[in-house]
Amino acid sequence: VESPLTDLFGRHHSYLRISLTERCNLRCQYCMPEEGVKLSPHDKILTTDEIIHLAQLFVNEGVTKIRLTGGEPTVRRDLVSIIEKLKQIKGLETVAMTTNGLTLTRQLVDLQRAGLDILNISLDTLKSDKYEFITRRKGWGRAVMGIDLALQLGYNPVKVNCVVMKGFNEEEIVDFVKFTKDRNVDVRFIEYMPFTGNKWDFNKLLSYKEMVEKIKQEFPDFYPLDNGPNDTSKAWKVPTYQGQVGFITSMSEHFCGSCNRLRITADGNLKVCLFGNTEISLRDALRSGCSEDDLVALINAAVKRKKKQHAGMLNLSQMENRPMILIGG
Ligand code: GTP
Ligand code: 5AD
Ligand code: SF4
Repeated sequence: VESPLTDLFGRHHSYLRISLTERCNLRCQYCMPEEGVKLSPHDKILTTDEIIHLAQLFVNEGVTKIRLTGGEPTVRRDLVSIIEKLKQIKGLETVAMTTNGLTLTRQLVDLQRAGLDILNISLDTLKSDKYEFITRRKGWGRAVMGIDLALQLGYNPVKVNCVVMKGFNEEEIVDFVKFTKDRNVDVRFIEYMPFTGNKWDFNKLLSYKEMVEKIKQEFPDFYPLDNGPNDTSKAWKVPTYQGQVGFITSMSEHFCGSCNRLRITADGNLKVCLFGNTEISLRDALRSGCSEDDLVALINAAVKRKKKQHAGMLNLSQMENRPMILIGG
């Protein structure tokens, strides 16, 4: 029989992203409006037990990788215990996290001991004043220390996420490539995507093609590598460099055909596409005492509503969705 996590286009979803909180210690311009977002009341946020219950259920149905996101996942107090409990779920191969890295110097040893397998860290600029501009907070030095600590502790490679925006950091792309020279990092340039409240503008989008051209001017032998079947990024490399570079081309060349991702928001909604507004409340279902079979049926019905691909960037910029901070990437 077919898995309840397989959609109408034959895509099986084995990768679940769970947002742990709506809060963040930064205020990134591309992620949330300046005035912030209205936070859900605390009792609407999934508890540790609910998260573990849902994780177990999704693993039973074929999920093998869970990524913790936010908001900023490290501001959640029970993070270590969530990771420990996830790691006890049989059949779950990978527990990953995407973070801004600010608290890693304080927390990473404990997170690693709890079993965190994979770490992606966001860093959009190599200049501390620009960092303060885009994040509306201080923290550049701590983020970079977080990356270097992760490398020291054996996260190999560390993926570094860099959202590229014309007029902000396009002139730093080559510097970011040089950042991979002596570090085992995978710097991934992400095309700027539209979300509610982030003032996305087509004219600020620097496309995959444009980025590659810019890099090739400095490194003529920059070349593409092979990719995994469900990778979000297209991998490239400068031959003599230790690390590598990637491009997440959600706007100019979407990768929906190989999508294997589902999301649970911090307030407990299953979201079947980053850009769709098909959401169902798993929290309400859990709290109403739904049986496991009913939960699986509910999830399956939502998965079956997943669209073949997103609506295209100009439509997306008009569409109702959540601000990124309430999704988790
Ligand atoms: P890996 O699991 O290491 O491959 O990471 P990832 O790329 O899945 O996750 P990460 O949290 O590091 O996200 C990096 C960028 O990819 C963010 O801008 C995400 O919004 C984007 N991204 C992640 N998953 C999807 C997806 O399913 N669709 C689209 N369009 N973008 C995604
Ligand atoms: N466009 C592209 N990437 C984004 N991220 C957050 N908002 C956007 C956006 N508007 C990235 C973050 C983080 C990842 C989860 O998503 O920088 O690395
Ligand atoms: Fe999957 Fe939606 Fe992202 Fe496309 S836009 S890759 S369907 S989550």
